[in-house]
Amino acid sequence: MEKPEVLVVEPLMQSVMETLSDSYKVYALHEADNQTALIDKLADRIRAIATLGHAGASNSIMDKLPNLEVVTCFGVGVDGVDLDYTNGRNIQVTNTPGVLNDDVANLAIGLLLASSRALVESDKFVRRGDWQKGEMPLQRGIRGKKVGILGLGRIGKDIAKKLEVFGCHIGYHGRREQDDVSYCYYSDLVELAEDSEYLIAICPATEHTRRIVSEEVIDALGEDGTLINIARGSVVDEPALVAALKEGRLGAAALDVFVDEPNVPKELFKMPNVILTPHIGSATTDTRKAMGDLMLRNLELFFAGRPLATVIS
Ligand code: 8YV
Repeated sequence: MEKPEVLVVEPLMQSVMETLSDSYKVYALHEADNQTALIDKLADRIRAIATLGHAGASNSIMDKLPNLEVVTCFGVGVDGVDLDYTNGRNIQVTNTPGVLNDDVANLAIGLLLASSRALVESDKFVRRGDWQKGEMPLQRGIRGKKVGILGLGRIGKDIAKKLEVFGCHIGYHGRREQDDVSYCYYSDLVELAEDSEYLIAICPATEHTRRIVSEEVIDALGEDGTLINIARGSVVDEPALVAALKEGRLGAAALDVFVDEPNVPKELFKMPNVILTPHIGSATTDTRKAMGDLMLRNLELFFAGRPLATVIS
């Protein structure tokens, strides 16, 4: 029997590509010398796309695939896919929720601790030989501190639970107050930022959350505040963030995501109060394997004509 055909539009992890190739005839668009010719050749045949959630698939590609039925994404955030478009064409979109919560939440905690205790600077202090000249300046503890969470979804809740163990007080902002948590709800993000020493962004990237961490929010967090972003670069007004850090209006930042990855504003490179990581929230072998397995499971279910495991509605 002929293998079903799958169009891969963004580079996926090598092990996922290998497993895909075992079961499907895979066309890697990003490797094609002539992408237009490849799409034109495949046009009527492609029913399934596999891609990264944040890179997604453009409407112009999907426009050329009249029989497209599913876009399976590697990642929980699917901001690279225009859901209005896919809904309009009844194309199902799947993601990989749940399996990455723990590692993403752990990165938030890691960045919070690394920032409050200046771990990256402490390492440099030792390597530079500064310890011979004196003690490292004292840093901040987190017990009893107020942490605001922007986006109390599955991962946000895991972060909150972990922070309780550290003795932090949790507040949150989201579209609505949640019944099943006792944390303090703020309907206004500026008020949450005003009341918080740390603000952790872990909300989905949507039209509603674009630049939601505005200059006003950053100023409300203030010179003693720290912004931690593990959501998407687009949820923060990046130029306003850089300016606030430059001018000392914001105390510190720990950033895993950026507006134009892998490009990071160069002004941040020399700031000792800023920690930069290269979008590594889910980047452990275990979690990436689990994400790959879930994406492959969705494809398998699709070609078996069965309901998909994790469809975005
Ligand atoms: C990426 C992520 O998918 O799940 C998400 O939303 O941003 C990540 O897990 C991963 O980095 C692969 O690019």
